[in-house]
Amino acid sequence: MHHDPVITTVVTVVALLLVAAAAAIGLKRVHLPFTVGLVIVGLALGAIADRVEPLAFLNSVTLSPEIILFVFLPTLIFESAFNLDSRLLSRNLAPVLALAAPGIVLSTVLIGGLMAAVTPLSLGPALLFGALIAATDPVAVVALFKELGAPKRLAILVEGESLFNDATAIVVFRVILGVVAGGAISASVVGSGIANFAVVFLGGLIVGAAIGYLMIRSIALARDEPVVQVALSTVVAYAAFIAADEYLRVSGVMATTGAGIVVGALGSTRFTPQVREYLHRFWEYAAFVANSLIFLLVGLSVSLSTIAEYLGTIAITIGIVLLVRAVTVFGLIPITSRLPGAEAIGGRYQTVMFWGGLRGAVALALALSLPAGFAQRDLIITLAIGVVLFTLLSGGLSMGPLIHFLGLDRPTLAERVAKAQAALAAKREALRRLGEVATAGPFSSSLLERAEEDYRKDVESVESQLAALRNECTTDEIRRVLWSEAVTVEQRAYRDLFHHGAISEPVLRELELAVELARDGLKRGSTPRGVPSVAPLEVRATAGAVRLFGRLAPNNRLVQRQRLRALAARYEHNVAVFEASSRVAAQIDRLGELTHAHPEVTQECRQEFERRSHEAMERIDSVAEHFPEYVNAVQQQTTRRIALDGEADAVEQLASSGVTPESVAREARQRVEHDQHKLTRQPVSALEPRPEELLARVPLFEGLDPADFQQIVKLLAPRTVLAGERIIRQGERGTSLFLIARGVVAVLVTQTDGPQRVATLHAGEFFGEMALLTAEPRAATVQAVSDCQLYELTKRDVDSVCEVCSGVKAALVAAFEERRATERRIGKRPSHY
Ligand code: CMP
Repeated sequence: MHHDPVITTVVTVVALLLVAAAAAIGLKRVHLPFTVGLVIVGLALGAIADRVEPLAFLNSVTLSPEIILFVFLPTLIFESAFNLDSRLLSRNLAPVLALAAPGIVLSTVLIGGLMAAVTPLSLGPALLFGALIAATDPVAVVALFKELGAPKRLAILVEGESLFNDATAIVVFRVILGVVAGGAISASVVGSGIANFAVVFLGGLIVGAAIGYLMIRSIALARDEPVVQVALSTVVAYAAFIAADEYLRVSGVMATTGAGIVVGALGSTRFTPQVREYLHRFWEYAAFVANSLIFLLVGLSVSLSTIAEYLGTIAITIGIVLLVRAVTVFGLIPITSRLPGAEAIGGRYQTVMFWGGLRGAVALALALSLPAGFAQRDLIITLAIGVVLFTLLSGGLSMGPLIHFLGLDRPTLAERVAKAQAALAAKREALRRLGEVATAGPFSSSLLERAEEDYRKDVESVESQLAALRNECTTDEIRRVLWSEAVTVEQRAYRDLFHHGAISEPVLRELELAVELARDGLKRGSTPRGVPSVAPLEVRATAGAVRLFGRLAPNNRLVQRQRLRALAARYEHNVAVFEASSRVAAQIDRLGELTHAHPEVTQECRQEFERRSHEAMERIDSVAEHFPEYVNAVQQQTTRRIALDGEADAVEQLASSGVTPESVAREARQRVEHDQHKLTRQPVSALEPRPEELLARVPLFEGLDPADFQQIVKLLAPRTVLAGERIIRQGERGTSLFLIARGVVAVLVTQTDGPQRVATLHAGEFFGEMALLTAEPRAATVQAVSDCQLYELTKRDVDSVCEVCSGVKAALVAAFEERRATERRIGKRPSHY
């Protein structure tokens, strides 16, 4: 063909897509993993194209490294990162990173060393080969996991590793290439290589996460515009890659990974379900196209005759690669399992991880990216192709049987019961509908009867199946089934609350994490006790930063605002737990019946959820007692929100029935949305301290001249502390006085036999005067019992207040004397007096 290159490219791409689509249909029938099948088709196509003139153009397309790295890789990486369960990933981060970072370096060194020893490759090229072949590409395997219903954790381990190790391999490859091109290896080169590696790896992740975050923020501008969102996500995937790789000189793959993870994790709650669906479909399609083209082109670009020529060396190389993979997986994984808090990874999982380490496009791209004229370039490429082909075919073809052999695809009894229950519910519903139809329209009764008869039989058979399954179950297994049903109800309640705007996104994420942990616990056989108090990584990080910053600058406005947010979040958390637990408790009898659980088991479950809802209510009451305006504002907001939800529903109904013209509906929709948006986060402002009101209740200032009172109010710095926080530590130097405007604190004195509570102080009281009056270290530790609103007054200000108002001084001294007396009574004799 002598066409314009653009036309040739279009024709080629379309032809390859057609082949891929046909292959996808055909391969479903023969149960061959898609990518593996494509490579085989590609090989065959290449052989045919050699002989058939009109197809010769297929062989002229080459797989250039730029196309793989800049066109396909960002798509594949983004898709995989976007769909990754970030919570599951963060809990398995240790083994994933161990394999992806030290694992890659170890593999590179071992493969490089062995290759240099037993193959014609010299050390430099051998190390390069080690780096490029270390990156795994388990698309074929991951697709298989989904098909076979293998455990999600296994998929995360394999997919997570490949996501991170692409970046590592690329970086290591480039570092070695620099060294080999530069000549000598020295300690400083290795040292700077390692430092460089860390910067490139983490830098990429940070750049990508930031870009992903910007995308999430921009969603507000393109609400309900799925097409625009999809376009934005494409921009993010590529912009992150290019910004990092080309301009900032950090890892583009890591950047796209970071962006994908952030968009996937935060987007799960910020996108509307419609947009989420759209994004998933789009990226599914994009990955399909990229994978199809890559693997077909891999097949096409292989010249079987060259492979045959080097068969011996390739066989040795494959042996080395497999050996080293075994060393890294079986060597590193047991180490990560010993890390604190790590969940062990069993032998069966390790076996799958070992055998699932297929090699793919990245290895080829890196091999092909070697500069023309580089020593032993062709050999490196041939060996890479050989290994890719072998692992892809052998691994891809045998993984299914291996998983089956290891029993990793077997559904648990609980899963089988749940499935049967779902089937039963579906069949019963169908039967009910048929009953409705019988009275509703002109249907042939014999036809209906026959259909009903069929369904009745189905119901019977599922029922007996279910009964048989239940007989197989031990009491403990039934307990687990019941609990997992309960947890599902709980989770649905959290989502409902979120969608009605009663809880904010971070709180939802926290609660969902707790649900996930409870599910994991159930799988391991333990029934959950209480709501596990876990927070997602970013929540913990913010809280840590606020705490640290708060210690350095306790009165900083930002710290104050964060504290108020935390208080609001805790309130929402308790409201959600209360609502969800009450809902479970109300439904537990029905669930018990459904699962045929023993009444005692149902009772135990009910008690746990009732206890939770009771505890949550107590905490809600405590906030209501100390921060009544806030609770009031929240309730007002909830009411308004319910009303707005109603309005929104009505608008939609009128629009869809055609009563209101679309233009009017749009306007109404926008108004409601605007109001809804305005409503979010408002109540927090009700938490803002209002010193005049609060301080009027503090007896210390009673009888003060109004003008003096105003003066003092200006000097006071508000400080919100959350229940459990320490405000003063015994023994430290003290330079300020605290007034309690809201809440309760405990005063604890530590002696040889540990801390002892000597007093409980309430709103209106003050503390911290002793150190001020005596210039001695703090005599006690003061800790918040409930969430508190305090006001802080520095020593200088206290002195000036005392000058204006002798009553204050007298009150401080009186309290001091009395407290000192108590301390003498309990026999405190601090060393620093
Ligand atoms: P200071 O020593 O500055 O810091 C700890 C504070 O705890 C102390 O001032 C008092 O305000 C308060 N405190 C110490 N002992 C008692 C007590 N027995 N009763 C009430 N408050 C006390």
